[in-house]
Order: sequence, then C-alpha cells, then structure tokens
Amino acid sequence: MQMDITSFAPALATEREIAESYEVSTAAFSADFPGRPVPSRAAFTEQLRMSASLLGSQRFWVARVRGRIVGMATLTLPDHENLQLTITDVRVAPENRRQGIGTALLRATLPDSRAAGRPVVTGQGLKVGGDGEKWASALGFAKVQEFVLQDLTVPDVDPELWRVSAPDGFRAEKWTGAAPDALVAGYARARTAIMDAPTGESSLQFPDWTVERVRQHEADLRERGEEQRIVVAVHESTSTVVGLTEMVISPERPTVGYQQETAVLPAFRGHGLGRFVKARQMQWLTAERPEIDWVATNTAADNSHMIRVNHQVGYRTNATVADVEAHVDALAAR
Ligand SMILES: CC(C)(COP(=O)(O)OP(=O)(O)OC[C@H]1O[C@@H](n2cnc3c(N)ncnc32)[C@H](O)[C@@H]1OP(=O)(O)O)[C@@H](O)C(=O)NCCC(=O)NCCS
Repeated sequence: MQMDITSFAPALATEREIAESYEVSTAAFSADFPGRPVPSRAAFTEQLRMSASLLGSQRFWVARVRGRIVGMATLTLPDHENLQLTITDVRVAPENRRQGIGTALLRATLPDSRAAGRPVVTGQGLKVGGDGEKWASALGFAKVQEFVLQDLTVPDVDPELWRVSAPDGFRAEKWTGAAPDALVAGYARARTAIMDAPTGESSLQFPDWTVERVRQHEADLRERGEEQRIVVAVHESTSTVVGLTEMVISPERPTVGYQQETAVLPAFRGHGLGRFVKARQMQWLTAERPEIDWVATNTAADNSHMIRVNHQVGYRTNATVADVEAHVDALAAR
C-alpha cells in the first residue's frame, strides 16, 4: 500500500482536505465513543484553522492513501506549564487501521517534539480497551493514569438534585469571565487545592494558580470566545474563598457544558462544599443557558469522592480512558 505522510497547514488547506480531515477525526472518535457529541464541521474547521488549543500551539500531519486523507496527527506544544512535553493525538479512520499508518504519523511528529525540546510524548484520553490503547502499548507507551468520562444529560436529570442548601457558615458567589477583584486572590489560592487531585504517574502539571495565572487563563478563554462560569464557596466569618468549580462553554459546541476543575481547600473538606458548588453551578447554568442539554467531565478514576459527588448531581459514568507517555528517543528508536 502506498501511503504519503506530509505536514499539513490548515490555513492553506482546501475545502476537500478539511472535509476529509473532519471525516477521519470524527469517525475515529465516534468508533470509541459512540453517541458522544462531535463538533460541527464549521466548528472543527475554525478550531483547525486557529492551530492552537487552549493549552498551546498546534502542528498537523496527514496520511493519504490514493490521494485521500485517511489519518491525522496533531502535536500540541503546551506553552504555559508542561514545557517538557507534547500532547500528541493520532487518529486513523477505522477502515484504514492495522496498516502502519498510525505509527508512521506518530514518527512524523517526533522530530518536531525533539526540536521543541520536549522529551516526553503524551497521549490523552485513549479509550481503555480500544484500538488506541492497544496501539500505544505495542509502541512502548506506558499508561500513567486512568480517568472516567462522566456525562449529565440535562433533560433526564431531576433539577431537585441541584437544590442543595449552603452548608452552615458558607455561601456561594458566582461570576462569568473575570473574577471580581475582591475575590481573585482567594479564588487563586483555592484553585491551588487542585494539586491534591490524584495524578497517578502522569507528568502533567497543574498551573501554579497565582492571581496572574488566573488572569492569563481568563484572557486565554476570552480570546477563544469560550465562556467561563465560576461558582465559589465563601466561608462567611472570614470571607475566604474555600472552594470553586469551573464550567466552560465553547463556541464550537454551544449546547455542551464542560465541567472543569473543582477544588476545596484541605481545611474545609468534608462539609459537602464540592457537591454544593457543583449543584449551584448546574442551577445557574440551566437557568441562564437553557439550550445546554449535555454536560461532560472527566475525573481521575481513583478519585472516588469526586465521582460520587458527580453521581449525586446527576452525572453517569460512561467510559474509562487512559493517558499514556513515552520518551521521544525510545519512540524514535523503535
Ligand atoms: C491508535 C490508531 C491511530 C492506530 O492506527 P493504526 O494505523 O491502526 O496503527 P498501526 O497500523 O500503525 O499499528 C501498529 C501496531 O500497533 C498494534 N495495534 C494497533 N491497533 C491494535 C489493536 N486494535 N489491537 C492490537 N494491537 C494493535 C499492533 O502491534 C500494530 O502492528 P500490527 O498491525 O503489525 O500487528 C487508531 O487505532 C486510532 O485512530 N484510534 C483512535 C484514536 C486513538 O486512540 N489514538 C491514540 C493515540 S493519541
């Protein structure tokens, strides 16, 4: 079989190339996660042409067989933290697998990983038991952490689950886009509590949540047109922010909410604050964004407390995925 691997510049791509990339990307995703929403073609195109995710800049390669795109590799170079690693995503259309295409695409990315000074190649969100996990294992990647994917289908959930009263001595505050100046320092401090989330053997580092890093994150989201909705728990007697939860709505999928970080400062755990802020977040989201019918999150598979809280507010656990890592030299040597 004759296959060509070339680097791919979305800004210069033809409509046909974009359409073929979209088909490959969504077919590979849907084979692993049937029923989970995929971006529209317009949203996919816009994202591709931006050539950057929230984490950093992106480079692309495609595999063609008889002139048609059948596989795609995306290399993301995180630019705030995690400067030692790449996030490498390889997808091959289901009907073109087991012909060496995925491996050839991965190999094409390695010189750029090395040139960018990134010895660690990571793969994220590989379905456990799926082709991607088997492929990664055959290539020498190590599994470093497992996550569960949890979804909340808004019309199926009784809103009573979100009627959770404030634990004694605490109240909720909320905002969209930019933390109020009066709360931002406490909010940044509360976000550092995410460092206690289990991370397995993963090299990925959470941001060091200073006020500056919070403002940078807010600016990055704004620049991409993403809406960030924050609910915090405030300890009333000291006016301290002690916990938070973050929801992001992307313009690519305006009917989907992405439940991101949730954290409670160690001294305030065990009061039901995690459930309280998540429940308030859902009440607020559904009141202001009735078009959102689906909310998705992922949680470390061994974070049984957060998984239970998610079930209490209506999430169901759907799949288990894995993050993998390998050294760039080990991959190149194979
Ligand atoms: C992972 C993926 C890109 C692999 O593409 P591919 O073109 O089929 O991979 P290759 O043909 O290069 O596979 C190389 C080797 O990996 C192993 N392998 C790949 N798929 C496998 C499977 N389903 N079961 C067992 N081993 C497998 C085999 O050893 C294979 O060599 P062989 O066919 O000679 O036995 C493809 O399955 C895919 O798109 N999956 C969904 C996305 C994903 O999970 N990507 C993971 C990386 S981010």
